[in-house]
Order: sequence, then C-alpha cells, then structure tokens
Amino acid sequence: MSKPKHSKVIRPGFPLPVSDPVQDRFARPLRDLRLSVIDRCNLRCDYCMPADSLQGRGIFLPKPELLSDDELVRLVRVFVRLGVHKLRLTGGEPLLRPGFTDLVARLAALPGIDDLALTTNGILLPRHARALKAAGLGRITVSLDSIDAATFLRMSGGKGSAAEVLAGIKAAEAAGFDQLKINTVVQRGVNDNEIESLIGFFRGTGHIVRLIEFMDVGSLNHWDRTQVVASADLLKRIHDCWPLRPLPSKVHGETARRYAFEDGEGEVGFISSITQPFCGDCTRARVTADGNLYSCLFAHRGAALRPLLRQRSTDDALEAFLRGQWQAREDRYSELRSSIDGDSQRVEMFRMGG
Ligand code: GTP
Ligand code: 5AD
Ligand code: SF4
Ligand code: SF4
Repeated sequence: MSKPKHSKVIRPGFPLPVSDPVQDRFARPLRDLRLSVIDRCNLRCDYCMPADSLQGRGIFLPKPELLSDDELVRLVRVFVRLGVHKLRLTGGEPLLRPGFTDLVARLAALPGIDDLALTTNGILLPRHARALKAAGLGRITVSLDSIDAATFLRMSGGKGSAAEVLAGIKAAEAAGFDQLKINTVVQRGVNDNEIESLIGFFRGTGHIVRLIEFMDVGSLNHWDRTQVVASADLLKRIHDCWPLRPLPSKVHGETARRYAFEDGEGEVGFISSITQPFCGDCTRARVTADGNLYSCLFAHRGAALRPLLRQRSTDDALEAFLRGQWQAREDRYSELRSSIDGDSQRVEMFRMGG
C-alpha cells in the first residue's frame, strides 16, 4: 500500500482538529469514515444491485435527498473532532456524482484528514483521474471481478466491460496513482476458477488484488453460503502457483489479511468477513448519500443526520449527537452472523457503500 498522502500539515500553535476521540462499548475508537456520495451506478453487479430485483422499484434517491457538498464537508469536519482521520468516498459509483472532483478538493483540504481514498468501478476514470489527482485524492481502489470479457459481463449485469475498467486503471496510473487496490468479489461457480489468471495479470504491476468473500449484505442479492469461497482455499491455490508469506498488518483494524509473493512480485490480500470476521478492531462508520449514519455494514437501522444538518443545529450539537451514537455502538455482525435472524431488511450495499 502506498504511504497515505498527508495533505495537511498542522502548524504549531494551531489547535488540533480532534477535540476528544470517542470510543464505542467495546472500546473501539472511531477512525474511519466511509461516505457514500451517490447511490446510483453505471453497472448492475449481481451481488450488489441485481437488475432483476430493481425492476419497478423507485429505488434510487431523488436528488434533493442527497446531502449537498456543503453538508458533506461540514459533516466530515465534525467527524474529525471525534477522531476520524481516514476518509473513503464510495457509492454506488462516486464518479457519477455531479461536481465530484470539486467535492474531493474541498475534503482533501480539511485539516485532520490524512488519508483520502476512493472506491470506484473504474469505468469513468479515464475522464476524471487527472483532475482527481490534482484535487488531492490520495488513493484509489478499483472494483474488478474478472479480466475475462464474458465473466465480467455476467457479473456486471451486462453493463460496462473489463476493457473499460482496465483502461480506467491505466488512466489512474498515468495520473500518478501508482499503487491501486483491486477489489475482487469471489463467487463460486461464477469467477472462482479465474482467480489465478487475475492474480497473474496483476502480479508485478505494483497494484494489490484483494479477494473478497461474497457477503450477505442487503437483501436483494440472493446471497447463498454455498457461493462463498473461503479465503483459506484461495490462499492455498495461489500459494501453490506463487509461494506466499504472511505480512503483518500495516494499519490497526485492517480489513484484509496481507500476503507477499516470495519472489518479490507484490502482494495479495484476503477480506474474509464470512470465515474470519474482523469486527474486533472495526473503527468504521458509514454515512449514506442521504445522510443516514450506520455503525455497521450490516445494520438495519441508521441515525438520520440530514435533519440535524438542515435544521441549523450547531457543530457542537452535531458532534454531541455523533458522539452519543458511537458510544452506544455494539455492532459485531460478522462475528455473530450465524446467530442473527437473516430475514430482516438490511441496507443495500450500493446505498451503504461497501
Ligand atoms: P483501506 O484499508 O483504506 O485501503 O481500505 P479497506 O480495507 O477498508 O478497503 P475497501 O474500502 O476497499 O474495502 C474492501 C471491501 O471490504 C469492501 O468493499 C467491503 O466489501 C469489505 N469491508 C470493508 N469494511 C468492512 C467492514 O467493516 N466489515 C465488513 N464485513 N466488510 C468490510
Ligand atoms: N459481498 C462482498 N463484496 C461486495 N461488494 C459489493 N457487494 C458485495 C457483496 N455482496 C464490494 C464491491 C466493491 C465494494 C464497493 O463492495 O466489489 O469492491
Ligand atoms: Fe456498482 Fe459497485 Fe455495486 Fe457493482 S458493486 S453495482 S460497481 S456500486
Ligand atoms: Fe465492522 Fe460490522 Fe463489518 Fe463487523 S460486520 S467489521 S462491526 S462493519
């Protein structure tokens, strides 16, 4: 992983933006904020936004319900006071938000945000990568499930193409994003047989592939445990092709277990929410594009922030509200998965942002 970009130097004599870090009921601090800036997407990945489940539903948020740039910037500024220093912008597809680059520039300039990252499907990167770099974006993660044209289309609901995503990756490289993360959701019987070719393709490029176990997020994606391929099995298969050695985690609370190729050709990560949950160190809060705060990816209920933002409450009142929400947090869904009722409605991934 590239060193986080430290976009802001806090000059001596200036007050630190963090007033008082907060902890939840399990003493987990709040360090990362994942902001979904739009719930729309130009793909229809079957595991996230399956086209058949969307038909006939007015499922996407109308524009006035989205938080404005001013509201988002203010919200992040207040989150920084609670200890957030890592910000990831997600969607849907964030690059579909009008004026997204301007928003990035404003967020990159906020004191206290020392790691600003984007999760994108990559399709629109050729158009935006250069401007995003200039705006101060630090890191990019590209979702790419297959480099095979037919498998890609099968997984993307027939939209976009692997070639377009690869062009997006090239554009990001050309703009100076030298070490990307490539997120690959693995589904048995869909793309699991291609994992070696995907890993082989990115070995030696400096980019880091992370293989993600198919998760039971939302309630539209027809999740079925038999479609999950355990990371341990993938690790063994990759190790048989290119010997691997475990790496220590770089950052506290990391989602991925990291391994280096013994021959020095890079690394690969495994995100194993199903078989090896990582709730114990989870420091992530999520806010949807319409301003609902969730303390877990699998939450059923969120806390509405938009009224607070629109009813002229002060920053102090907003901070106190966020603090109270985090202090009450006791989520550890992945650890409890098997004992939790799987039928209740959960927020969809394209809304929650991953
Ligand atoms: P950095 O460490 O900042 O590079 O990012 P990250 O590891 O958080 O990675 P990223 O945002 O790319 O997340 C990768 C994927 O991991 C997401 O798309 C989710 O599928 C999954 N993920 C991320 N955070 C969580 C989490 O808190 N719980 C669970 N169960 N899955 C998560
Ligand atoms: N299981 C695992 N990962 C998922 N993502 C979306 N839905 C799922 C799911 N059901 C991932 C995408 C993308 C990120 C935003 O979330 O691949 O990398
Ligand atoms: Fe779009 Fe990402 Fe969901 Fe695929 S996973 S439909 S690219 S938001
Ligand atoms: Fe955090 Fe919830 Fe994911 Fe556990 S399941 S790591 S608590 S977001």
